[in-house]
Amino acid sequence: MPAIHVSKLEKKFGDFKALDGLDLEVRKGEVYGLLGPNGAGKTTAIKVLTGLLKKTSGNAEILGVRMPCKDIAQRIGYMPQETALYVGLTVHQNLEFFGKLFGMDKAAILAREADLLKFIDLEKWRDELVANLSGGMKHRVSLACALIHEPEVLFLDEPTVGVDPELRVSFWNFFGSLKEKGTTILLTTHYMDEASHCDRVGFMRSGKLIAEGEPKAILKEAGTSSLEDAFLFYARRDMQ
Ligand SMILES: Nc1ncnc2c1ncn2[C@@H]1O[C@H](COP(=O)(O)OP(=O)(O)OP(=O)(O)O)[C@@H](O)[C@H]1O
Ligand SMILES: [Mg+2]
Repeated sequence: MPAIHVSKLEKKFGDFKALDGLDLEVRKGEVYGLLGPNGAGKTTAIKVLTGLLKKTSGNAEILGVRMPCKDIAQRIGYMPQETALYVGLTVHQNLEFFGKLFGMDKAAILAREADLLKFIDLEKWRDELVANLSGGMKHRVSLACALIHEPEVLFLDEPTVGVDPELRVSFWNFFGSLKEKGTTILLTTHYMDEASHCDRVGFMRSGKLIAEGEPKAILKEAGTSSLEDAFLFYARRDMQ
């Protein structure tokens, strides 16, 4: 059973099709990167998959469960593109809030929080109001909140935007360690260099996939050495 299965997924806003027959399958334990220009439908796809937006038609399943389904919420982690934190609460209180939301008890939250704060390198900021953090720091807290309940499937919408280069490397190392534990990750990014860390990438354009595969295979088929050029190749092919 794949971790994520999407077939003929359509999402309309009025007459506009943000998702136009999206087919996507992500295996358990896979790191899958969705790439594509602004407005391609990446965030919409994640929102429909996580149950935040209602699909117009088609099918979306997570861990074999047809979405939307509330029962699966505890097995999913979601880091939104626009940080959704309570700025009037401290870092600790935000983590506690999300932990409680997922039914964790205090001891479990504290234990997990210690590891996460170390990983995002914000141990000293534990009791600071989120409002007083820099943009990149807020981003790091948002990632920690998505991970508090050790989800099996993780949706990360542009997780490394605004994150400094050093921390980006540690984010990717961390994603690798989550993968080793069997976590499935679907992420979006505009950093083409990051795509090489993914097991597979999918190029999205106008609400559907126009190419997918292992980064090396994608490049080989397009006959290019950069993913930017490869995207242009597949976009041109799609327009023909
Ligand atoms: N709530 C909404 N109402 C109307 N149109 C919407 C809504 N949400 C998204 N759209 C439209 O759907 C399309 C896809 O948007 P989406 O946010 O999924 O793109 P994206 O691939 O995530 O882009 P980006 O790289 O900029 O984050 C865009 O044209 C956008 O304007
Ligand atoms: Mg987006």
